[in-house]
Amino acid sequence: MTAVPKDRLVTIYGGSGFIGRHVVRALVRSGWRIRVAVRRPDLAHHLQPLGRVGQIHAVQANLRYPDSVARAAEGADALVNLVGILYESGLQTFGAIQAQGAATVARIAAEAKAQLVHFSAIGADAESRSAYARTKAAGELAAFAQAPAAVVLRPSIAFGPEDDFFNKFAAMARISPALPLIGGGKTRFQPVFAGDIAAAVNAVLDGRARPGTIYELGGPEVRTFEDLLRLTLREIDRKRLLLPLPFPIARIQAFFLEWLPKPLLTRDQLILLERDNVVSDAATREGRTLQNLGISPTSLEAVLPTYLSRFRKAGQFSRPAA
Ligand SMILES: NC(=O)c1ccc[n+]([C@@H]2O[C@H](COP(=O)([O-])OP(=O)(O)OC[C@H]3O[C@@H](n4cnc5c(N)ncnc54)[C@H](OP(=O)(O)O)[C@@H]3O)[C@@H](O)[C@H]2O)c1
Repeated sequence: MTAVPKDRLVTIYGGSGFIGRHVVRALVRSGWRIRVAVRRPDLAHHLQPLGRVGQIHAVQANLRYPDSVARAAEGADALVNLVGILYESGLQTFGAIQAQGAATVARIAAEAKAQLVHFSAIGADAESRSAYARTKAAGELAAFAQAPAAVVLRPSIAFGPEDDFFNKFAAMARISPALPLIGGGKTRFQPVFAGDIAAAVNAVLDGRARPGTIYELGGPEVRTFEDLLRLTLREIDRKRLLLPLPFPIARIQAFFLEWLPKPLLTRDQLILLERDNVVSDAATREGRTLQNLGISPTSLEAVLPTYLSRFRKAGQFSRPAA
């Protein structure tokens, strides 16, 4: 790893989120000064202990307000855009955040001559029926149009202590006798450790990526949705029925769940589940993967036990021998 010249400043939009805290930790270790740009800086205090005194600073920025984005970029050598949403809510629409918001950050990166790392997702597709996937594709296009040397990172589903997938299903298993095998559970994923994603950001800012390139980030193994639920149940040592939930029925359920303030499932997410979420052959062939950034991906088995153990029944601390 090359030492970062003293006082280099990176602004991380969305740095208070799940992947964000791993990125902050990785860049702190490399010596960056960090400016975390979020809508509620008061909610980013959990990041302070990750750095030395004064190394991490939170400022207010909302991707829907370009002036706030520009203020947060002042004096920065690099910008990392981690802002993304899984469902729409009020003014937080996919278009406003993942397409226009991405374009705003990229324009400001270009004006400030700052290096840009933009977060997209495997499955980004301009032709998709999913608004999430379409706006992720639009965000990538906008990033390259404004800042041609940008590097785009597209993770598969990410895992780590605060993730949205394994924690959600482990919590569900605690209270429900069955877990849903959405669409039959056949969708394939390549879960990637959030710490490895953060290492990828560090590698890009360290000059180890090809400018103007999309990297696809996946873990060491491809697993089906059903495999992942079984693995979760094994980790928390609980037996639950896996109930096949065909897509048409899941869509009806999602229609109602979408009314919740924080929906468990949406119809847009179901469209994403119709396609595998794995690193493409093209990315492997063309050298656009984690390994090509010098990172050896971490396995699920190495990390899941460190945070799913809290979902075990009281008094159970380790998995009984097989
Ligand atoms: N997690 C995964 O499995 C996964 C997989 C593929 C791709 N990705 C992509 O990776 C990126 C990071 O994901 P994540 O899981 O870390 O997401 P996350 O935990 O939901 O974090 C999103 C961050 O964006 C901020 N944010 C939301 N709306 C904003 C706005 N209008 N202006 C400024 N900040 C805003 C949030 O903070 P406030 O709400 O407090 O403002 C939060 O810090 C996203 O682009 C996501 O699409 C994630």
